[in-house]
Amino acid sequence: MLDLEKYGVTMWEEEKILSFRQKLLAWYDENKRDLPWRRSKNPYHIWVSEIMLQQTRVDTVIPYYERFLEWFPTVESLANAPEERLLKAWEGLGYYSRVRNMQAAAQQIMNDFNGDFPSTYEGISSLKGIGPYTAGAISSIAFNLPQPAVDGNVMRVLARLFEVNHDIGNPSNRKIFQAMMEILIDPDRPGDFNQALMDLGSDIEAPVNPRPQDSPIKEFSAAYQHGTMDRYPIKAPKKKPIPIYLNALVVSNEKGQFLLEKNESEKLLAGFWHFPLIEVDEFSKEEDELNLFSQVSEPTTQFGPSPKSSFEQDYNLVVDWDDYKFEEVKHVFSHRKWHIQILRGKVEKSEDYSDREVLWLSPEEFVHYPIAKPQQKIWQEYLKRDH
Ligand code: ADE
Repeated sequence: MLDLEKYGVTMWEEEKILSFRQKLLAWYDENKRDLPWRRSKNPYHIWVSEIMLQQTRVDTVIPYYERFLEWFPTVESLANAPEERLLKAWEGLGYYSRVRNMQAAAQQIMNDFNGDFPSTYEGISSLKGIGPYTAGAISSIAFNLPQPAVDGNVMRVLARLFEVNHDIGNPSNRKIFQAMMEILIDPDRPGDFNQALMDLGSDIEAPVNPRPQDSPIKEFSAAYQHGTMDRYPIKAPKKKPIPIYLNALVVSNEKGQFLLEKNESEKLLAGFWHFPLIEVDEFSKEEDELNLFSQVSEPTTQFGPSPKSSFEQDYNLVVDWDDYKFEEVKHVFSHRKWHIQILRGKVEKSEDYSDREVLWLSPEEFVHYPIAKPQQKIWQEYLKRDH
């Protein structure tokens, strides 16, 4: 067991812990949000909800969650889902390796666990893509096991309760909060205990504009009692994402179809369909300004062929480009920020790409293909100016 004193945390006496549990759970019973996954004890349902909730707000998750379980009602159906359908189900949520890992884990359950969801913390932890947080959440919510589920919300609440002077953004400090939770968690209602802290952390104890005076546990909170709420949690600022500059080539043919390509790389957004993208060094500010007057839009400082001509070569097309100046489209990933400038063109004669993962698609057909968020933003920007 981790020595909490070494980290400057003095744990409460047993009596205080008991009364804390009581207070928190009584508040939860009165105030818990009615969420679809809270009506289920099925570990598969809990798992799906927890993976989705790691990256997205509750309101956004609800329709994704419901559709996912309609499309893949069982672990077996997830294990056997075609890739395109899987990505479509996750389209817009981002972090697509998570859904790929879920499918791998579903296959593990089918092969190694006879199709039964594992019911121990160790078994659950052995599944691909399931780390200590998710294993704790599933164990406690679906199987009533006394396992903490320590996420950012929980760390924030605990950091304020105990004035923890360690950066909650540093993964090596997670063990401090895990050890605190192992002592605090209610052994009779671990799932509710975890979820009560999550609810508190995402509302009354939110990162911005918290309402500490409304907290049901303010009498237990060292930071509240000492007037130090604004100092906790300790969190070092995040590094800025690296900027990447891209041209998106939105090219249509005589039938009003658009050229889309499947991303065959193993990298970011693998398996998704996209308008061709060409990376450039940077968009030249000078040229941008010149464009205002001359309507010449070749936004690149590249040496060598321009994005337009390399596109024509790569796809064996003759394109009639126009000079429309679209707003820059931006999309932030965890470590990268894409700055995308759209180049618009039309072809007289479209190439038949039947031997490549490139298609001419009408906009009505887009819904049948997984198309990730940055590409959807490109399309929305394109539509605004499509005249
Ligand atoms: N965030 C992550 N898991 C959650 C849950 N089970 N309930 C509410 N918010 C959550």
